[in-house]
Amino acid sequence: MNWLAIAPGRVNLIGEHTDYNGLPVLPMALDRDVRIEFAVADGPVVRLDSPLARLDTFAFQLKRPIEAADQGHWSNYVRAAANGLLEHGVPLKQGIEGTVTGDVPIASGLSSSSALVVASALALLKANGVEVAGASETTGGPASSTRAQPEPALSPRSPVAPISRLELATLMARAERFVGLEGGGMDQAACLHGAEGHALRIDFEPLRVTPVAVPEGWRWVVASSLVRAEKSRGARDAYNERAGQCREALAVLGSVFANDASVTAERDRPGVAPVSYRDLIADGDVDGLLERTRRILPPALFRRFRHVVTEGRRVALAEVAMREADMRGFGDLMVRSHESLRDDYAVSTSELDEIVTVALEAGAAGARLTGAGFGGCAVALCDAPTMGPVMDALSERFYGPRLSRPPSREEMFAAKPSGGARVRIRDSSGGGL
Ligand code: GLA
Repeated sequence: MNWLAIAPGRVNLIGEHTDYNGLPVLPMALDRDVRIEFAVADGPVVRLDSPLARLDTFAFQLKRPIEAADQGHWSNYVRAAANGLLEHGVPLKQGIEGTVTGDVPIASGLSSSSALVVASALALLKANGVEVAGASETTGGPASSTRAQPEPALSPRSPVAPISRLELATLMARAERFVGLEGGGMDQAACLHGAEGHALRIDFEPLRVTPVAVPEGWRWVVASSLVRAEKSRGARDAYNERAGQCREALAVLGSVFANDASVTAERDRPGVAPVSYRDLIADGDVDGLLERTRRILPPALFRRFRHVVTEGRRVALAEVAMREADMRGFGDLMVRSHESLRDDYAVSTSELDEIVTVALEAGAAGARLTGAGFGGCAVALCDAPTMGPVMDALSERFYGPRLSRPPSREEMFAAKPSGGARVRIRDSSGGGL
């Protein structure tokens, strides 16, 4: 029997470089996915090919330790999933063989790599009879049963115990570190919890996912900067450097605040240093926090820190704006997020800045880079009548001088909030979807 594991990419609407700092994000799953058409292999081996450019055929044994392929090789995402499941004690006695296809643009900040990790995990779990609680294998509908719920503890498991989507998202976020990126948990959670018509507020430590309906009449335009941002190659070191700076800022503040009774007393926990970003902004006074920390942190660290804590506040405000259908307010927050990513976090590029400027000048309510930055895509928020003019302006002013043709559907498209990852029987007519 042939199966299809389908895992969507995501576009992050706001909350960038906050997930690995334990602060929330607000992405949505895309109506574009990575698909693995597979059959259960004869033994513990994974053998996959792909008609997609640059993805060559590979095979590996499901035996610990799973060896990494060369840096940047796409099989490392599949290996990451297998390794994560094995390390978690899921006995993978059966492998998979099949073909990977999909339409999530690669190296574009839209999480094609996490979609491949999640699709691989779902395929391996299916091949080994491990149920994913909340999976919609027959309907393929949104994972609507995954409203906010506490994350179950990750504990070694018995062979047949089902695994929940939250548990799998947490597990795959850790597993993906196999490629060397010190990533957070946004991408895997968005991929597994996508819900049609909804953005997803995702909180961490513990992982929680809360769908937020996107108000009627609003559209998201995703536009590529035409610069690849590969998680496992060039962008990786710059990303990890930012993550390190955030940890360093926290360590400095933790030690200073631990000795500052006035600070710790303010937090009703005298003598206890804030140990997380969430602690630091718990009282909601981000401006006061910035005042206090400006002279403690060296300037570069302070800028990174300022991005993280103000972005955390913007996500909270953006969620409220979306719930109240105040999408102009949401758009303003996107613009401020972009400025902060550009000026304080230093992850934008001149191409991303230009897309944001063109989109706003053409009437978008908001626009910002999405994903890690260093290339990849920007996302613009438009009301329905403005979407056409925004796309036209980008075609003409951004893509016109760079391409000798209009942008492809990979390079610019309208994104629809969509359902989460799932496994289905592939029907014999060949379509399966
Ligand atoms: C990458 C990582 C995510 C997140 C974003 C930036 O996509 O995989 O975990 O950190 O960058 O917000």
